[in-house]
Amino acid sequence: MTTVELATTALAVGGEAIAREDSGRVVFVAGALPDEVVRAEVVEERKNHARAIVVDVLTPSKHRVEPPCGLVAHGCGGCDWQHVAEPSQPLLRRSLISDVLQRQGKVHNPTVLAGPKLSADHLRTTVKGVADSEGRFSLRRRRSHDPIHIAGCLITHPLVQEIVETSTFAPGANVTIRVGARTSERLVIVGPSAAGSSVPSDVLLVGADELRAGRRAWFHEEVGGRRWRVSAESFFQASAQGADALVSVVRDYVDRFGSGAGLGIDQESGPGSGSTSAPSTGSGRLVDLCCGVGLFGGVLGESSSVRQIVGVERSASSVSDARHNLADIDARIIKVAMEKWRPSPAEIVVADPARSGLGASVVKSVGATGARLCVLVSCDPASLGRDTSLLVDEGFKHKSSTVLDLFGHSSHIEVVSAFER
Ligand SMILES: C[S@@+](CC[C@H](N)C(=O)[O-])C[C@H]1O[C@@H](n2cnc3c(N)ncnc32)[C@H](O)[C@@H]1O
Repeated sequence: MTTVELATTALAVGGEAIAREDSGRVVFVAGALPDEVVRAEVVEERKNHARAIVVDVLTPSKHRVEPPCGLVAHGCGGCDWQHVAEPSQPLLRRSLISDVLQRQGKVHNPTVLAGPKLSADHLRTTVKGVADSEGRFSLRRRRSHDPIHIAGCLITHPLVQEIVETSTFAPGANVTIRVGARTSERLVIVGPSAAGSSVPSDVLLVGADELRAGRRAWFHEEVGGRRWRVSAESFFQASAQGADALVSVVRDYVDRFGSGAGLGIDQESGPGSGSTSAPSTGSGRLVDLCCGVGLFGGVLGESSSVRQIVGVERSASSVSDARHNLADIDARIIKVAMEKWRPSPAEIVVADPARSGLGASVVKSVGATGARLCVLVSCDPASLGRDTSLLVDEGFKHKSSTVLDLFGHSSHIEVVSAFER
């Protein structure tokens, strides 16, 4: 492999730094920051771009630090931004999102705000890994499939770390650890089976084979003032504090822009009027698109101005949890892939899709609800850019984005954006 000297200029959506070779070819440099000179090993070459990994930093950025977690020096590949100073991480995330909204989203001078301050350390309540040859919970090493035991990990919650340090599994097993930080309930899922596992006595241990055979297993978490049942196969946010922050930003946007959406105010015409910017019906309906276990719908459904929640979700396990979790409010959870969802009139759509984003057909469906407010929760900058552009074409105007730092020491970005029409 070739080693090259590169001067980096900007941050790419994947968290790497961008450099341009004399030929004009772009190089994405993992482990580098903007405004650095680095020596890097080229690991992938394409016609228009290449990928490289930092070997040596010749001129460091002012944002660069020694990784605070000792596991990085031993090769742990769990966090890709350990070399970025903790106070700089939110700044870099915001500047990246501002850039994406302008370049891809066609938003001139976007408002991009900082979310609630969150610690980067010891928050993570879910971690997926593999058992090493001694059966110890491990992540993968950087640029390798080899496992590295993560005793002393900086980001995992203490309830997770205790399982990491005291449990053993069959070598090579796939292990997912999930805990409720506020309930202390703990669940460990082991694939292909839980045979040969030893975990602390309070932990609910379940094999992937048992789940496939229909066994139900769950833990509970408390977020946004409500208690959530989360089944082994259901998505839940990666920390309780992060989920609280996310819920509070979404709720703030609904409070701030939702009155203009007509919540609780009866109007005459709805999406059936044929206009793409049809006014809302005033039914007080809020769609929670990709609702998971019902997090946003459950919290927003407690508001007196929201009369009904419609949850849309593809996973059977999450649908079952959402129906259970939202049993005390007027909520209808539809088990359907969002691409096949048939929209009904609503005032507000809160959408929290997977990394691939909403895409063109689902943005059309959002428009067809007649909603005047769409609150989009994005976990991938590139899909945020694409969805923003589609929402703008659908007649929505970008009002504001808030960038959350849910994944400290990682380039992973979570953004909540409000779009109004
Ligand atoms: C990022 S999670 C958000 C869940 C929930 N809003 C929360 O905060 O806990 C995305 C959810 O979308 C669901 N999902 C993924 N693709 C989907 C699709 N095509 N149609 C419907 N739901 C989908 C996943 O099962 C998952 O529950």
